[in-house]
Amino acid sequence: MYQAPRGTSDILPPEQSYWSYIKQKAAAICELYGYRRIETPTFEDARLFVRSIGEDTDIVEKEMYSFEDKGGDQITLRPEGTAPVCRAYVEHGMHNLPQPVRLYYIASIFRYERPQAGRYREHHQFGVEALGDADPALDAEVIDMAWHLYVNLGLKGLALSLNSIGCNDCRPPYLERLKTYYTQHKESLCADCKRRLAKNTLRLLDCKNPTCLALTEQAPRSTDYLCQECSEHFEHLRRYLNLLNLPFTLTHRLVRGLDYYTRTVFEIAPEGETGAQVAIGGGGRYDNLMEQLGGKPTPAVGFATGIERLVLNLKKQEAAIPVLPLPTVFVAYLGQDAKYEAIRLTAHLRKSGISALASLNERSLKAQLKQANVSGVRYTVIIGEDEVKSKSVVLRNMAKGEQQTIPIDKLAEALR
Ligand code: HAM
Repeated sequence: MYQAPRGTSDILPPEQSYWSYIKQKAAAICELYGYRRIETPTFEDARLFVRSIGEDTDIVEKEMYSFEDKGGDQITLRPEGTAPVCRAYVEHGMHNLPQPVRLYYIASIFRYERPQAGRYREHHQFGVEALGDADPALDAEVIDMAWHLYVNLGLKGLALSLNSIGCNDCRPPYLERLKTYYTQHKESLCADCKRRLAKNTLRLLDCKNPTCLALTEQAPRSTDYLCQECSEHFEHLRRYLNLLNLPFTLTHRLVRGLDYYTRTVFEIAPEGETGAQVAIGGGGRYDNLMEQLGGKPTPAVGFATGIERLVLNLKKQEAAIPVLPLPTVFVAYLGQDAKYEAIRLTAHLRKSGISALASLNERSLKAQLKQANVSGVRYTVIIGEDEVKSKSVVLRNMAKGEQQTIPIDKLAEALR
């Protein structure tokens, strides 16, 4: 038997209530904050992701679904949503629009990861990008949006971690200090960190290995090395977050797994939980990315949240979510003449805006009623020979078990 590929899932009808709830809340928040939807292709030129995410990141080194297509082009299934949005911004000359351009997406994301709870090879993200403004008030807006979404969904006990990793001016001297520090302790580092030390020193701060973690406590902190401008930017951001009553924790270990970030980085996770797959959302500022992709210098900030992780957390917290409606009416019948009536009536109900199912094939009335029960409808309509003659139907209220006979042409109105 075939199975869904490892790390992917079918989202079956009972799960759809969660998905539809999350997507509706996300779209509503975007409307409130003035973000408009963008959709980009599922795959892009592989170089777009290598350039933006960074060659020495886990995503580019190990996780991209890349292949050569039949025309010989190198293609990658989207491993994140920010670079495609920047590509579209440049390609469609969005720098000519009033800035910042506020965009959002809901998209499937592909990463060849080791599957476990909350970590999949295909997952879905809701993300926002605000492009074309460096004001820290925009960082605060994006963080506020993320927080507002989680609160609106009914999630509780979340914690916001915040850090600033500086810019092209202040980061290189900081990285030198960091490298010197870790080099002094090289013998104690895990194999991964020893390897990363030369190429991607910042990621050492992120290592979950207990010995590396202990070393990280004493490691130089990026916020102590910020240049004047980055320092002011960070100070203003913190002021705006306070103004918006958003509680945050300064986390010097927070660096994120993509290379394009400058200044602000943040993550939101259930309080007290740590680990690679607990963050339900994260993002930050990426002021150099657009230029790296061939556009004009365009400061920008954004965030994304994993929809599967939202579903997991909503379930864990037993959050009350609205269940998608089931059909209202099931139409059952006895005999061929009644079936003609039933088919006509079902079509009429649907056209009148009342969701309806008709019984199919020749089942006993008992079997049809059982089917009506299982399908979760609120009403069953029964048509027998007598009803055909008298142009009426029997309407049964499933919850109350009561029934009444009403003229067939009054049914839609009665149900409404
Ligand atoms: P990211 O932190 O890699 O950031 O992913 C964002 C969110 O997607 C994570 O917080 C997590 O909820 C979810 N996620 C990531 N990987 C997986 C996975 N394998 N399985 C399930 N869920 C996952 C980005 O992708 C950036 N583009 C965010 C951003 C937008 N930064 C600026 N703008």
